[in-house]
Amino acid sequence: MHVMIINGSPRVKKYSNTDKILNKFTEGLAEQGGTYEQYEVSDRKQWDDIREAFRKADNILIAIPLYVENIPGLLLEFLETVTPREGDCDIAYILQGGFAEGAQLRCGEKYLVMLSKHLGCRYKGTLVKGDNFSIRFFEGDMQDRVTGPYKRMGELFAQRGDFDDKECKKFTGPEIFPVHIRILLGVMFKTVGRIMFNKLAKSWGCEKPLNYKPYGT
Ligand SMILES: Cc1cc2nc3c(=O)[nH]c(=O)nc-3n(C[C@H](O)[C@H](O)[C@H](O)COP(=O)(O)O)c2cc1C
Repeated sequence: MHVMIINGSPRVKKYSNTDKILNKFTEGLAEQGGTYEQYEVSDRKQWDDIREAFRKADNILIAIPLYVENIPGLLLEFLETVTPREGDCDIAYILQGGFAEGAQLRCGEKYLVMLSKHLGCRYKGTLVKGDNFSIRFFEGDMQDRVTGPYKRMGELFAQRGDFDDKECKKFTGPEIFPVHIRILLGVMFKTVGRIMFNKLAKSWGCEKPLNYKPYGT
């Protein structure tokens, strides 16, 4: 199968976690005989080419990072310029985010079912997974540990043409953390997390504390 892939992240390819995920996914796809072409929505110079490829493709895959609980504005802006198909193509999605619980990606997933209809394509499922914040901060083996499992998903997608397999559903991981983990994470964010985020902000040139409220009390 040949897949037309769109990376829907507004981040340029070099810094995009979605791109690193797609590297592994397409490795698996190619090992099972699949071929693909990949486009970046972050590069406006590609938009004409993406529209043209979208018009002709039989299998479309849009890989999307969750931005504020749903799909990035730049991707929406692009999709508004696409001419809907006439039910003559398949569409599937990779939806990924920073936070680990599957539950917070479900609203976006529901939206993608509607979007498929709007784009005039047959919906072939969404591969849902969080816990991907760290990809861009890692390299080599550390990065592979996070992105590596997407290779198997690429293999399955090449074999099936959809994400309806049990293994794809399981891939999401925990839908919601148990109470004791949530309490532990809350404490960690307020202590170690706060120190780390403040350090990071300082290293990026931020001069005010992160809870600074210039217009509030
Ligand atoms: C502005 C912004 C909003 C985000 N909103 C969410 C969110 O609501 N939920 C979530 O799980 N991750 C969120 N993230 C994290 C990204 O989804 C995550 O880091 C993703 O891997 C980024 O992929 P990219 O580098 O290809 O854009 C957000 C990141 C940014 C920059």
